[in-house]
Amino acid sequence: MKRFTFVLIIITSTQLYLRMPLKNDLILRTIRREKTERTPVWLMRQAGRILPEYRKVRNSVSGFKELVETPELAAEVTVQPVDILGTDAAIIFSDILVIPEAMGLKYEMIEKKGPLFPETVRTEPDLKKLRVADAGDIQYTIDAIRITKKELDGRVPVIGFAGAPWTIFAYMVEGSGSKTFSKARAMLYTHPEFSHRLLAMITESTINYLQGQISAGADLVQLFDSWAGILSPAHYKEFSLPYIAEICDAIQEVPKTVFAKDAWFARRSIGKINCNTVGLDWCMDIRESRELIGDKVLQGNLDPCALYAGYDEITEQTRHMLNSFGPYYHIANLGHGVYPDTDPEKVKHFVNVVKEYSAGMR
Ligand code: CP3
Repeated sequence: MKRFTFVLIIITSTQLYLRMPLKNDLILRTIRREKTERTPVWLMRQAGRILPEYRKVRNSVSGFKELVETPELAAEVTVQPVDILGTDAAIIFSDILVIPEAMGLKYEMIEKKGPLFPETVRTEPDLKKLRVADAGDIQYTIDAIRITKKELDGRVPVIGFAGAPWTIFAYMVEGSGSKTFSKARAMLYTHPEFSHRLLAMITESTINYLQGQISAGADLVQLFDSWAGILSPAHYKEFSLPYIAEICDAIQEVPKTVFAKDAWFARRSIGKINCNTVGLDWCMDIRESRELIGDKVLQGNLDPCALYAGYDEITEQTRHMLNSFGPYYHIANLGHGVYPDTDPEKVKHFVNVVKEYSAGMR
């Protein structure tokens, strides 16, 4: 009994620690539709890619995967953009492809080329080899979140994430990145029932994984449907949306963001999903999106290429974006991940313009 009480105290105090009040909770207050003193800002793919400080840590290990799988180092590069760029959130350093690997399909990250799956999932025996993943299969990211929470000490919220099932399916069937993902799209026509079974397994794995991230302290979660825009509206409705909806229904503990790149045709349907925030890419008109999506908070959507412009042009483009969204119910971000060769000073400038200009919009 004594031992039981002791364990209970430890568990309870860990939970309290994980849920301790945040010093900067702008993003969470914005998501609750409170009228905040300024617009919060972070960048998709802010961890890694652009910072020399990231390259240094990255070069101290054998490669990207070792970094992802070493919780202390993953936590370190997660915190870097908060310190260096001044963002209002940290996104945990990992990858969407940890899910296929946890299901039994190993990936490699080829330098300057991207992900490669030596084996793919195209036949019944391929599918039979897979299993539904548990959060414990991706313990390194769960541990990285715990360490990040501790290191941040409540400075900003931590964003957990996963790929949306269709995007993960696309990599598992195709075996690598692709402009068209024609093998993955063909599968939806040739083997729709098989496709649904694989998507259901990915969905279940993703729910388990996100729940693990939340237990470790993730304050909100984002689903990346990076390849949403290559599906027809009908296929998007059949093969992507229902699985995103299932994940959003299963996650009740923290707010959820859905970012479906290029899925301009699905905005009204995404607006009906049980999520709090919808990410926009730069091709989506902001006012039209507000009308289609209704009263959800919007995130985005500066063209990442705008950050190649001069400082004055970045200022102007950022202000224009902020004016179009209006002062409230908006989380400033890019319309997709920051490109690897972007000057970190330009990113800092973007962050500062959001902070200063949006405060003046109140
Ligand atoms: O947002 C963040 O900074 C957190 C970390 C993060 C990474 N990948 C690290 C990463 C996140 C959120 C992702 C998501 C991801 N990964 C997506 C969805 C978002 C999007 O951009 O559409 C996708 C499609 C992937 C798959 C992936 N991972 C590709 C295609 C590549 C190679 C090209 C590239 O993006 O650099 C990766 C590798 C990867 N993932 C890197 C990083 C920092 C670069 C690896 C390196 O250090 O060499």
